[in-house]
Amino acid sequence: MRVEFGDLRLDEAAKENLLDCIAKNWISGGPKVKQFEEEWGNLFGYKHNFAVYSGTGGDIGACMALYDLGAQRGDEIIAPALAFAAVGEAILQAGFKPVFVDVEKETLNIDPKIIEQKITPRTRAILVAHTMGKPCEMDSIMEIARKHNLIVIEDSCEAHGAKYKGKFIGNWGDMAVFSFYIAHLICCGEGGMISTNNERIAQILSSVRSHGRKGGQLYFDHERLGSNLKMNDMEAAVGLSEVKKFWWTFDTRKKNLIYLLYKMKDLQKYAYFNLEGSNDVVCAHGFTVTMKDPKYNCAALYRFLEDNSIKCKRNFGSMPTQHKAFAFLGHKLGEFPESEYIGDHGLHFGVHQFLSLDDLDYISEKMHEYFKRFE
Ligand SMILES: Cc1ncc(COP(=O)(O)O)c(C=O)c1O
Repeated sequence: MRVEFGDLRLDEAAKENLLDCIAKNWISGGPKVKQFEEEWGNLFGYKHNFAVYSGTGGDIGACMALYDLGAQRGDEIIAPALAFAAVGEAILQAGFKPVFVDVEKETLNIDPKIIEQKITPRTRAILVAHTMGKPCEMDSIMEIARKHNLIVIEDSCEAHGAKYKGKFIGNWGDMAVFSFYIAHLICCGEGGMISTNNERIAQILSSVRSHGRKGGQLYFDHERLGSNLKMNDMEAAVGLSEVKKFWWTFDTRKKNLIYLLYKMKDLQKYAYFNLEGSNDVVCAHGFTVTMKDPKYNCAALYRFLEDNSIKCKRNFGSMPTQHKAFAFLGHKLGEFPESEYIGDHGLHFGVHQFLSLDDLDYISEKMHEYFKRFE
């Protein structure tokens, strides 16, 4: 593929860090993880940071922390119907019931206007995802959460460095989760982070990450259910080099996104793209295309772009109604019309930092070539 979704290029700092792990004979979680957590936190002002093995592990850990905050097994967590499947998986794997809420076609994010009708006496948290780097409407979401005494988890896996109303995402809710898989702005190969500014939640997370250990004298003393969510020093070795160049990565991707939006302005009559609003600073995770009318045939665009060496991904789909994995929850097609529409008529491709101007022009050229047939 000429245009991949993301790309990792190990620089000299990453190689030196990796060699240091080998020289010190220490590759499990250790000093590099600790340093990576500190440097990550410093980027966005997150006080407590827990590196984990993946974004999925981060979502699981954040949900498991809810047991110490008053939740019981089987309680409900509100989540967007459309997001990467890890969101629904993590809620279920942590022992909760996902209560899905439809999203907005324009932003791909949870629709705050319908959250309240889904709250029941068993709701304990709202897990939102800033899909494709577009921040959710965090002020409305926090208002609802505070009114109903709910914890807010910001799944920020696709939104490193994004801001809502001048504040970095992840600083709005009670916990934030990040992924460092290859598609994301900071990449460790595999990896994730749970960040929080709350002292008590930090203590819980530190125990949940390591099998619910109590800490202190007895090694095998587990005071809550946890798991092994830990990141290792080899992953952190790469992450440390990525943190150093984070703002370069962020700005370069952003310029790519803005350039493509400019070049394809005329195509906005056919599709919704990921636009920045007056309240947010978007993280350029990818370029999304959701058709304004099914007649523009998203499946054909997907095939056309891939045939022309541009890697595409579906715009996720509705977890409860478009993925067999969640069929046992008993939802019926039609319950989440916006999510289902986006799942059928939306795709995204990469705007990563190693694409050249030629690559961007090529994407624009291919997009124009496709949509020309509808003129
Ligand atoms: C919104 C969201 N949540 C969770 C994850 C899971 O992250 P990981 O692939 O690191 O497990 C992803 C991954 O892309 C994601 O986009």
